[in-house]
Amino acid sequence: MHTAQKIMKVFITRRIPQEGLKILSQAGVCKVSLWDSDEPVSRAELLKGVAGAHGLLCLLSDKIDTEVLDAAGPNLKVISTLSVGFDHMAMDEIKKRGVRVGYTPDVLTDATAELTVALLLATARRLPEGVVEVINGGWSTWKPLWLCGYGLSGSTVGVIGLGRIGMAIARRLKPFGVKKLLYSGRTDKSYAAEVEGEYVPLDTLVSESDFVVVSCALTPDTQGLCNKQFFCKMKNTAVFINTSRGAVVNQEDLYRALSSGQIACAGLDVTTPEPLPTDHPLLTLKNCVVLPHIGSATYSTRGIMAELSANNLLAGLQGTDMPSELKF
Ligand code: NDP
Ligand code: DGY
Repeated sequence: MHTAQKIMKVFITRRIPQEGLKILSQAGVCKVSLWDSDEPVSRAELLKGVAGAHGLLCLLSDKIDTEVLDAAGPNLKVISTLSVGFDHMAMDEIKKRGVRVGYTPDVLTDATAELTVALLLATARRLPEGVVEVINGGWSTWKPLWLCGYGLSGSTVGVIGLGRIGMAIARRLKPFGVKKLLYSGRTDKSYAAEVEGEYVPLDTLVSESDFVVVSCALTPDTQGLCNKQFFCKMKNTAVFINTSRGAVVNQEDLYRALSSGQIACAGLDVTTPEPLPTDHPLLTLKNCVVLPHIGSATYSTRGIMAELSANNLLAGLQGTDMPSELKF
């Protein structure tokens, strides 16, 4: 005899790609309420929406802390984030309450690595400056000394955090003629052999690299890692790229390093806060290229992320194996 299955309540904090919504509606196990907007849910609406929910599908811009968990209450079984980064969630509190967490590793690695390479080249070869000069009439003729930048051929690249994305960046950069690939992190990686990666102390990486690429997770150890001391050790001709999280960088120290010529230029896909206020000092610098956190923004990647986060959520609701469960 079948017992009637209880329909569980799910709250989704933003309009997400249809691929994910379709999976949830076809499963027939949950009633979805959605903050149906491209703009973030307000704190008050988040607390209201999550009340009594069995499942929460959230984004990296939602702070999932004790207050949200309390508002959800004891029904909450699963939180599925549409991101690989999980620094927006109070993991200790979540663990204490026995709530499972799903996330989206791997499926966004290629898109994010590709964007990192694009940002690196755009920054080092001054593409945004060049585009502006064409539009504003600054392009008078071909000039031998105009808009020169830095090339990858024969260079030393340092990757901070040779994880999934860091390794995918290294794989893409090597064929540009990179001579030496350095990396740092907590542990030596055997898979680094594929890119002839050399595990070095952070100080060595920072002082020897022509390109410093940050692709580590944001943790208490990496928060503010790129600070005054860090930038002082970099070469005056070095290019700094960050596609991890804004808080890994001390932005005041970065501003000083860029404006004083301590380092050559910087490309950031992530900042603190997001969005970066339009009057922020970093945006006054020609040698700083800032993107609006678009590392994983390809149509197909975002669709696959939505599918994966929906499947993670369903597994959490049903108590089955998740395609990508965060073990913590
Ligand atoms: P991984 O877990 O595969 O890699 C994270 C890396 O961080 C690991 O190699 C780890 O090194 C390193 N790390 C951790 N602690 C430290 C430390 N103290 N010093 C140096 N390195 C450290 O994650 P992914 O590669 O999949 O993603 C990395 C990050 O990229 C995400 O956490 C997210 O913040 C960001 N991201 C940004 C995107 C964007 O749109 N810009 C898109 C997707 C992700 P070790 O193994 O040695 O500990
Ligand atoms: C992540 O997944 O952590 C990114 O920052 C957005 O895709």
